[in-house]
Amino acid sequence: MVTEATLPNEPRSHYENVNKAFSKQSDLYDADDQANPILLAWRQQVYKHVNLFLKTKSNILELNAGTGIDASYFVEAGHHVHCVELSDGMVGQIQNKINKLGFQDRLTVQQGSFENLNLVTGRFDYVFSDFGGLNCTDDLKKVTQHLPKLLNEHAMLTWVIMPPICPWEIMWLLKGYFKQGLRRFHKNGVMAHLEGEYFKTYYYSLGDIKKSLGENFKLVKCEGLGVLSPPPSAKDFINKHPKLYHQLTKWDEKVRSTFPFNGIGDHIIATFRYTP
Ligand SMILES: C[S@@+](CC[C@H](N)C(=O)[O-])C[C@H]1O[C@@H](n2cnc3c(N)ncnc32)[C@H](O)[C@@H]1O
Repeated sequence: MVTEATLPNEPRSHYENVNKAFSKQSDLYDADDQANPILLAWRQQVYKHVNLFLKTKSNILELNAGTGIDASYFVEAGHHVHCVELSDGMVGQIQNKINKLGFQDRLTVQQGSFENLNLVTGRFDYVFSDFGGLNCTDDLKKVTQHLPKLLNEHAMLTWVIMPPICPWEIMWLLKGYFKQGLRRFHKNGVMAHLEGEYFKTYYYSLGDIKKSLGENFKLVKCEGLGVLSPPPSAKDFINKHPKLYHQLTKWDEKVRSTFPFNGIGDHIIATFRYTP
């Protein structure tokens, strides 16, 4: 069910480009996800992390829900999920899942921006955002300002977000790819190119996330995702260097929850408890 069309008025071009890019991706998104072993392993790591904190029958608010892959996982595990998603195509995919899987009473979708969460009603036990959707905002505060009105006391929040330091990308510097190697350090965002569309993305450290949430949110766990091992875009690496890939993932497992590795990687998984 689409409850409301709430695309923000400005800046139009950024949202239009994000909408177009992800709508173009939406038809093949699930098939690409299934065909990428790194992405599948990362989703399992995210679920393992979230399941440490998710209480039974939780009411989850999922930001930038994409096609609803994670939402379906949580619904199947007995939770209720309300998705906020910007892109027409992605919202269509979530609706298809609702109808096909008979999730009408447990999965809802609202088209709009996570910067406009004032348009969402209800109280939630968990707010979740996966795989870098929040890197599309130029200011996390535009999202976090709305959270106190939406969260139950002791609600949890898990955001999977791209940080500025990604060792795998820094290694590009050794190959002479300076632009790629340093791209995450641009303070004013970096132009992303997806499906022929261009829009800016912004990289956020654990410190940036903490600052945007304020003192009522206490960090309970943070771990790196793809700290030393390759990102999903380098999935061919697995076939070319299977032993090295295996070794890198082993090292990831060992270090990803300890400082400073818990704040670096292709993404980080950061979880906070809301204690107003
Ligand atoms: C990389 S995809 C991740 C999707 C999903 N979370 C997943 O794990 O597959 C990023 C998603 O963020 C959405 N998005 C980007 N900006 C948004 C905004 N301002 N409000 C809501 N969704 C947004 C995009 O439409 C896209 O579906």
